[in-house]
Amino acid sequence: MSVKIISKTCTGPVNIAVIKYWGKRDEKLILPINASLSGTLDQQQLRAKTTVAASAGFTKDRMWLNGQEQSLDNPRLQNVLKEIRRRARKRKSGCEDDLDMLTWRVHICSENNFPTAAGLASSAAGLACLVFSLSKLFNVDGDISDIARQGSGSACRSVYGGFVEWEMGKEKDGSDSVARQVASENHWPEMRVLILVVSADKKHVGSTAGMQTSVKTSPLLKHRAEKIVPERMQAMIEAIQKKDFESFADLTMKDSNQFHSVCLDTYPPISYMTDISHKIVRMVHAINAHFKKSVLAYTFDAGPNACLYLLEDHVPLVLGFINHFFPYDVNNEQYIRGLLSEPQKPE
Ligand code: PMV
Repeated sequence: MSVKIISKTCTGPVNIAVIKYWGKRDEKLILPINASLSGTLDQQQLRAKTTVAASAGFTKDRMWLNGQEQSLDNPRLQNVLKEIRRRARKRKSGCEDDLDMLTWRVHICSENNFPTAAGLASSAAGLACLVFSLSKLFNVDGDISDIARQGSGSACRSVYGGFVEWEMGKEKDGSDSVARQVASENHWPEMRVLILVVSADKKHVGSTAGMQTSVKTSPLLKHRAEKIVPERMQAMIEAIQKKDFESFADLTMKDSNQFHSVCLDTYPPISYMTDISHKIVRMVHAINAHFKKSVLAYTFDAGPNACLYLLEDHVPLVLGFINHFFPYDVNNEQYIRGLLSEPQKPE
């Protein structure tokens, strides 16, 4: 006798924050202490791909990441599965056939085509993709960014394309801590992103543990969340809406620098950037000094890899500088080119 299996495969993009999220006010619901904003990258070079399958023949929920079976005991994954099933149940009440499927177990198979947990937003792409695939499997409509947020905070921003804000929200239940698109992927077509892979090794302090220590020990983080970020978010949204690259670049670099200052202000301190990262910072400022204005912006997440935002016209020249200062090694692809993209797509 054959048993029916229903499956969906989707891909999900990486997002790179220009105003960083760092610190939670609620660990379980993943509610941030400040708003954040990012660009969603296209899926040519960096993407997660997830297949989710449901069947009455499966005996338990299971998951594989890059070919290795992972435990689904993780409370965040459990919350995601629970919430998807709850919404599907709510939508389908009264429809007997579909309700049956909600009791089926799921198998999840996910892979990234880039280094996992190396500060390249792999969890954001992976969790956004997982939630999107599950929503397609169980026919859940509407905004799913709050579900993605419960899987991995910054994943909520990968649910939309272009420039995306994650609103901090005020409600205790997290209902208003959602992502919203600030500008679509078509708004600023000249925008490009170059990623300089300094190291593909796993980060030495994970973002969850790092944020917890920062919230407990860094006075700078408190000041940043209360005073700096609210003003910076407004200025950043305005820069994006006006396509004012200089302001966009200055805000992006200052925010990256402040995030890494918070890491150093954490006790014991956390340092994600390496000597090579600092050399990239110096190179970017030298290029901007040459142009007498900011034509290039760096930003670093919880790792040493640099993400450079720039406009298409400057790509050849900047690649020339990069090749000069960091000679290209063909055996170890050093940079990845990307554009702003659409949100994830079902295959
Ligand atoms: O969502 P998490 O737990 O991977 O945290 C991401 C934190 C940063 O990448 C450093 C900043 C951000 O806003 O993406």
